[in-house]
Order: sequence, then C-alpha cells, then structure tokens
Amino acid sequence: MPEPVAKDRGTGHRATAAISSNAAVNRAAQRIRQVLAASPVPEDPGHAENTLLWLLRMHPAAGDALRLAALAHDIERARPDRLQRHQFGDYDTFKQAHADEGADIADGILAAAGVAAGVRAAVRNLIRRHETGGDPDSDLLRDADSLSYFDHNLPLYHAREGYAETLRRARWGYARLSQRARHFYRQIQHEDGRLNQLLAEACDGRLDATGA
Ligand SMILES: [Fe+2]
Repeated sequence: MPEPVAKDRGTGHRATAAISSNAAVNRAAQRIRQVLAASPVPEDPGHAENTLLWLLRMHPAAGDALRLAALAHDIERARPDRLQRHQFGDYDTFKQAHADEGADIADGILAAAGVAAGVRAAVRNLIRRHETGGDPDSDLLRDADSLSYFDHNLPLYHAREGYAETLRRARWGYARLSQRARHFYRQIQHEDGRLNQLLAEACDGRLDATGA
C-alpha cells in the first residue's frame, strides 16, 4: 500500500536534493531548479519536484533521463515570453509546441552541464512526448505529470482560473491517465472540500474530454 499522497507536495527540502550518482546530471538538475525558481508560473517549481516524487513513487528505479525530464518537462513555461494558449488553434497544438520548445531548452542546460549524449537524447525525447506518451518511459512521465497537476497544481490553478475552467482542465487530464495512474488519482485528497468534489466530478463518466 503506498503512503498517503496529500502531505508532501514537493515544495520543500527536495528542491536541492541530488537526483543521481552522476555529477553532471546533478549539475543539470541544479540549473533546471534555478530556472524554474524564477518562473512566472507560481506552481511550477513545486510541480517539478512533485512530478519527480510521483515518478519515483510509481517507478523507484527510474534512471537519470527520466529524473531530469520529470524536473525539466515544463521548463518552457519558465520564460517571460512563454507560449500562450491563444497563439494556437487548439489546446493540443499549443501543448505540443510547449513540449518541443521545452525539449530544446532542457537540452541546452544538459549540454552546458556536461551530461552524456545518450542521456541528453533520452531527455529530449521524453520532454517532447510528455503530453502524449507513446513509449513506456514517456507514458510514465505523462502519468507523473498528470498526477502532479491534480496533487500539487490544483489549488493554485483553481484560485486563478475558477471552478469551471479547472474542471475542464481536470477532465482533460483525467482522460489521459493510464489505469495505473487512475489507481493513484483516487488517493489524492485536498484540504479544500470543493477540490475533492471537483476531482470526483472530473472522473465521473466524462472520459471523452478533448481539452479544446
Ligand atoms: Fe507538467
């Protein structure tokens, strides 16, 4: 039985923890965390740590590429000129552009830190696929990212966007969860009862949400 999931939202001491026995990988992780700490999106530094936490909860033996990708997958959003939904015709096109640009940004950081070429290529692939999945490791990252939205991001997103938009986003997120992740979804609880109601509504027979 896994530990309760509502307590550690990945915003505390883990932000400086080593993620690998490899020094270059740890240098890259430190730089990624520095960039995210300056993000204009307030939930993003904690979301990165919380995504790593979910990854390791589902797959404790995850290697360096998955760990780096968990931290860096949303690094595109840390820019002042980050991509905006209104610049794209639909939500999925917007999300793919976010993933592709994030893969490039992360690769620059990994190269500067001296990370091995094979790990860099794997991280690039993982970040490009973090919204869609498509192979076992990308599916794992997508699940960790999705669970972290519900666990870590939901309160801030709800405070900023309101109930209706958060429910739309939550339905879109639930629809892409694997069966493995849906098991963990049912364990997520928030102190605010409205958010627990929203989580219940988001998975209530609306698996055809498109995110549009
Ligand atoms: Fe994310």
